[in-house]
Amino acid sequence: MDLHLPSGKVDLVDQKTASPIQKPKTERHRMSSRLAGKVAIITGAGSGIGRAAAELFAAEGARVMCADIHAEAVRQTANAIGAAAISATVDVSVPEQVERMVLETASAFGRLDVMYANAGIGEAANVIDLTIEQWNRMIAINLTSVWLSAKYALPHLIKAGGGSIINQSSSAGLIGIPGVPHYAAAKAGVIGLTRQIAAEYGPLNIRCNAICPSAIPTPLMVTVWEKRARDAKSTASIPEQEVAAAAKLPLRRLGTTADCANLALFLASDESSWISGVAMPLDGGLTAT
Ligand SMILES: NC(=O)c1ccc[n+]([C@@H]2O[C@H](COP(=O)([O-])OP(=O)(O)OC[C@H]3O[C@@H](n4cnc5c(N)ncnc54)[C@H](O)[C@@H]3O)[C@@H](O)[C@H]2O)c1
Repeated sequence: MDLHLPSGKVDLVDQKTASPIQKPKTERHRMSSRLAGKVAIITGAGSGIGRAAAELFAAEGARVMCADIHAEAVRQTANAIGAAAISATVDVSVPEQVERMVLETASAFGRLDVMYANAGIGEAANVIDLTIEQWNRMIAINLTSVWLSAKYALPHLIKAGGGSIINQSSSAGLIGIPGVPHYAAAKAGVIGLTRQIAAEYGPLNIRCNAICPSAIPTPLMVTVWEKRARDAKSTASIPEQEVAAAAKLPLRRLGTTADCANLALFLASDESSWISGVAMPLDGGLTAT
């Protein structure tokens, strides 16, 4: 694991957004104090939802460890934030690297209050053709990593007198969505683990909640759409698939990384201090239909 300390301020980099539909709803530079004094780790902070959450948490007063397997991307996130952020190159499926990430955070900032286990991969597949290698890789990165993040964060949260663990699940963990069997299994597992942690560590003032987004155009989502189109021998472009996906949602639009960052902010803050063990849909109404 490589640790990167702040190297000075640079201009905000654009998110790796893949769609014109993606219009962040938050002001990037707002300064408030909903997370004042708190220290957060956000995994998968090199792109998409994780990057948006890191920027928002810092703007709300948190000091943030930005972790990702992509060194340059996560360094850019931390540089864009400035002195309130450090970054580390971490494979969240490797126990030693996750442990080191947590220790480096506590050592740099003196405490830990929030663990946002957001890093993940997406992959379109079907049950019959799925290989054991694909299955194991998906479970390692999208489920085992969430357990590892909690395992190493919990002692520090307990020491701090409480804290918030936010685990990234998906609509696919709540309802049946064709074409993502290993992804769905991992995300449903995240919800089970979330409830278990909430039940066991609630008495120590530790809350644990899961976020369940449907479609938010990010590199991960685009990868899934591209594979689906190839498999279906469809010539539909990504913008066309986005329009089709949005049309299936009651709110008739896809989500944004800001939608997700805003929910993570709420769950990280004391505003949600009586909410624990919840798997919260963030889906434009998908799971209401
Ligand atoms: N975008 C959506 O529509 C959507 C819907 C439901 C759930 N999610 C979940 O949201 C989370 C964030 O995804 P996103 O949409 O922002 O995608 P993204 O591809 O923009 O970001 C994912 C990040 O995770 C990092 N990552 C991947 N494997 C890693 C590993 N082994 N160790 C450390 N970092 C790793 C990637 O480098 C990337 O920066 C994922 O857990 C994903 O499953 C996304």
